[in-house]
Amino acid sequence: MFSREVYINRRQELRRQFVSGIILILGNTNSPRNYRANIYPFRQDSNFLYYFGLDFPGFAGIIDIDEGKDMIFADDFSMEDIIWMGPQPKVKDLADKCGIEYTAPFSKLSDYIAKGIEQVRKIHFTPPYRAENKLLIEHMTGIHPENIADAASQKLIKSIVAQRSIKGPEEIEHLEEIMDVAFEMHTMAMRMTIEKMYEYEIAGAVTGIALQNGGSLSFPVILSNRGEILHNEYHYNRLEKGDLLLCDMGFESEMHYATDHTRTFPVSGKFTSKQKDIYQLVLAANNAVQREAKPGIPYRDMHFLAARTIAYGMKDLGLMKGNMEEAVNAGAHALFFPHGLGHMMGLDVHDMEDLGENYVGYGEEFTRSDQFGTAYLRLARTLEPGFVLTNEPGIYFIPALIGQWKKEGRFKDFIDYSKLEKYLDFGGIRLEDDLLITKTGNKNLGQKRIPIDVNELEEIIGSYWKK
Ligand code: GLY
Ligand code: MN
Ligand code: MN
Repeated sequence: MFSREVYINRRQELRRQFVSGIILILGNTNSPRNYRANIYPFRQDSNFLYYFGLDFPGFAGIIDIDEGKDMIFADDFSMEDIIWMGPQPKVKDLADKCGIEYTAPFSKLSDYIAKGIEQVRKIHFTPPYRAENKLLIEHMTGIHPENIADAASQKLIKSIVAQRSIKGPEEIEHLEEIMDVAFEMHTMAMRMTIEKMYEYEIAGAVTGIALQNGGSLSFPVILSNRGEILHNEYHYNRLEKGDLLLCDMGFESEMHYATDHTRTFPVSGKFTSKQKDIYQLVLAANNAVQREAKPGIPYRDMHFLAARTIAYGMKDLGLMKGNMEEAVNAGAHALFFPHGLGHMMGLDVHDMEDLGENYVGYGEEFTRSDQFGTAYLRLARTLEPGFVLTNEPGIYFIPALIGQWKKEGRFKDFIDYSKLEKYLDFGGIRLEDDLLITKTGNKNLGQKRIPIDVNELEEIIGSYWKK
């Protein structure tokens, strides 16, 4: 946990945005895997972690604006719990760690909310994403679970997004520290990759590094020689000469802050010239964004900078043709780059996505495009110092999509489908870094950038076995 003052200040800042009402922040409960006592690893709600920091199941926090009081609702452990789990801290002592004096048993939460409703006070809650919390809100407010997301407080959502979007110095320091683990995970994957290995052997090793560093994964490892499958969590392919291996993985620290990087490299340790051409284009797009991203620039512009870099490069390779400004405006590049450039990152790998992607990434200023590809852009907003976000351009050759567009004759003035025939088994390349927007520009988080240049990669791939 951070110091008590961090949580007190965060709650005070939130409180300042409201004139009345009750803010309810529900923590998470344990989730059963195959029977009640065999649970998934516990993951606390990120809003609860942000304002209260307490990483235990069965907690709820109240910020009562009218009463000027913050409260924790949770139950002390029973003797039966202590027999199975050992001595446990008291709720009062835990609450003190985040600067809260008032505590009450969890069962009193419904009474508190019921009284607030009776007094015609607004109950501000965030959209719940877990069934248990939907049911609890239904129980407390009478709102049917199907209508709960719409009944969530826009005022609370917007206030949290505004606050959590700007990372505090303590968060930036922590993120910088945990990037060492991301570096270790990715360089281990590079060092141990060798022909004939199974993907799960590498995925298992990097998961081990996350666990060895006292944390876990920020999302299931995406590690595949079929990199064109964007979120490929299948790890049973055997790696062969000529394959590219795409590794998209992140560490989640003990305090639940995320990292999220992608590297793509040749299994054999040497890029073919065809692979290198495409690789250098993705790298050029990534580097162009890193050069240009700064306060005042909409991230949507950075998305299009990456898209244009890719399109012009694809034209140089003969895979696209015509006017590339027109091609990108029309969305033709999305055949190769069908996702967004990036997203906010922090306590969640897609930070605050539970609050709603458009609130986080678009705000009042921008409207999400409905054009294929651009529609997946999660972050369009104008950059501000303190934003932490990902920069993750990619080029993919998705046979099913190419086949469909070719059949429809889609963008045939911009895409040379005949040349694409030779790329149908290419796979995909994504290169992802985590950037902090500073006062004047941005910083690639971490002490050292995870190897990304062709020469660096060719040096490190498989080096574990060469000693
Ligand atoms: N790891 C999923 C993503 O890059 O957004
Ligand atoms: Mn990623
Ligand atoms: Mn990402």
